[in-house]
Amino acid sequence: MDKEKVLYEERGPIALLTINRPEKLNALNRATLEELGIVVGRAEESEAVAVVVITGAGDKAFVAGADIGEIASLDALSGRSFALFGQALYRRIELLSKPVIAAVNGFALGGGCELSMACHLRVASENARFGQPEVKLGIIPGYGGTQRLPRLVGKGPALELLLTGGMIDAKRAYELGLVNAVVPEGKAVEKAMELAEKISRQSPLGIRACVEAVQTGLDMPVEEGCYLEATLFGLCCASEDMKEGTGAFMEKRKPVFKRR
Ligand code: COA
Repeated sequence: MDKEKVLYEERGPIALLTINRPEKLNALNRATLEELGIVVGRAEESEAVAVVVITGAGDKAFVAGADIGEIASLDALSGRSFALFGQALYRRIELLSKPVIAAVNGFALGGGCELSMACHLRVASENARFGQPEVKLGIIPGYGGTQRLPRLVGKGPALELLLTGGMIDAKRAYELGLVNAVVPEGKAVEKAMELAEKISRQSPLGIRACVEAVQTGLDMPVEEGCYLEATLFGLCCASEDMKEGTGAFMEKRKPVFKRR
């Protein structure tokens, strides 16, 4: 039997997803992307899971990109489908009802950098390297890189990375706002789990509404975004968890949220 290309593990309220092709620096071939889709669905459906962490196997790479061997044989139509397939999965991750944290433990290039950007938060180890090297291969990013990178770091730095195909280290990624934290080598998963644990203690409905308000609202004019925010605020007010959260504050005790 083939080895699993994406490992799935639940650690309390956190699902840890590990892209498992270390011999190819976790490059995403079609089979790996398909498995990633399946385990993302599993994390989404699991009642026990509140937060998802995605990382790469081994100590060298998060994901070194889409599989160049597969890209090499694409033509106009299959290239378009290839991009649409990856984009759909990444958009699903971005809109997941549970926060997703990328633990970037090495190279995050091309589709790997794009995967990290589809996650809600990014933690990088000091040996992490980010880049969109597609122009070196005669292509452009196809999994949302030209759209998410400028939204995260601004047009100037994004175009510099996209046009030179160069890599930046974790420190520069932090300065640009591409990552939320930088930790020593080997500690990215630990730090991501720590963040995930902190998030998992908050109200699940509040978290879900925050993700939706930011991910969907940011693509709207500010007035429409605020309208969406008010609607989601109202929905939260109709929940048992809102009564529990506000009640617990007034009674000076810890809330017990039930996702209702
Ligand atoms: N697709 C397919 N295979 C890949 C890959 C990718 N994106 N990235 C790495 N690999 C494979 C290599 O071909 C090599 O396989 P092999 O041992 O069978 O020859 C293995 O992973 C190890 O990579 P290697 O290049 O030997 O490691 P390195 O430390 O010398 O270099 C990188 C590391 C990341 C700089 C280099 O692998 C690289 O440039 N990869 C491609 C990055 C890229 O362009 N990504 C965007 C794709 S759209």
